[in-house]
Amino acid sequence: MRQDTKMPTAEARDFATEGASPSGTGAIGAAISIRGLSHSYGDLQTIERLDLTVAAHGVLGLVGPSGCGKSTLLELIAGLQEPESGAIELGDARDPHGRLDRCAYMPQRDLLLPWLSAIDNAALALRNRGVRRAQARREAGSLFERFGLGGFESASPAELSGGMRQRVAFLRTLVAEKPVLALDEPFASLDAITRAEMQEWLAGALRADPRTVVLVTHDVEEALYLCDAVAVLSARPACVLEQLRAPSPRAANRNAAVTAQEFVTVRERAMRALREGASAT
Ligand SMILES: Nc1ncnc2c1ncn2[C@@H]1O[C@H](COP(=O)(O)OP(=O)(O)OP(=O)(O)O)[C@@H](O)[C@H]1O
Ligand SMILES: [Mg+2]
Repeated sequence: MRQDTKMPTAEARDFATEGASPSGTGAIGAAISIRGLSHSYGDLQTIERLDLTVAAHGVLGLVGPSGCGKSTLLELIAGLQEPESGAIELGDARDPHGRLDRCAYMPQRDLLLPWLSAIDNAALALRNRGVRRAQARREAGSLFERFGLGGFESASPAELSGGMRQRVAFLRTLVAEKPVLALDEPFASLDAITRAEMQEWLAGALRADPRTVVLVTHDVEEALYLCDAVAVLSARPACVLEQLRAPSPRAANRNAAVTAQEFVTVRERAMRALREGASAT
């Protein structure tokens, strides 16, 4: 069994309180607390005694080897599954129904509804909240141009590229206006330039409208640019190997931020933890 060298409690507590919303667990930006979480699929243990805390309006990145349990962890946070043991709280919500209510979840696969147009897919969460079709289309449509989807409002998912589908799914998650965003590799199928642009856009959006975010990615640079802290997970069953604080979260100038010496040093440390975690299996 490998050593669990997660961030010391005091440092984790600092992260948990830093950037907390003035109103504490208000409607937007609920804090997340995960304690002693374990989960299995039959005999396959995917998560083992995992502890994580995210402040209200904090952004936490999760990186870890493929198959270690990252998507499972997001599904547990979002209330789509019940953990075998341990506790998950989103603000004051503990049960799966309450967690689902507070969380907008973007799954790894885009899960667009094939019979709806791009704009109606994007507006789905608004429609579910009872917003009228024209208003929902207006709200979701206002972001289409910025997301590089202008002109594709009426296209069906089958007529979109993988990256475009992903952007529609991302847009759908954002317009849901939930306090917690659980994002599973939201930019995975984008080319490098578009990906950097989307990261900059999300950084700006979170500066303007802070939410509590858990972001799963295989891209360490993306995690360290967008997040306040990044948890490096072990190979399955996932536990936190190390938690690293990002030097300049969501800086306006992405290029300057990711090339700064301090950023490069933290990135190397995260890569080393990832390599060691993967080879410890
Ligand atoms: N519904 C399920 N039933 C049974 N096993 C599952 C289920 N979902 C995931 N698993 C298994 O649990 C493990 C963790 O899967 P998960 O999708 O959480 O990994 P991941 O870290 O998100 O991987 P990746 O980086 O490749 O997306 C894998 O071995 C996977 O096969
Ligand atoms: Mg996954």
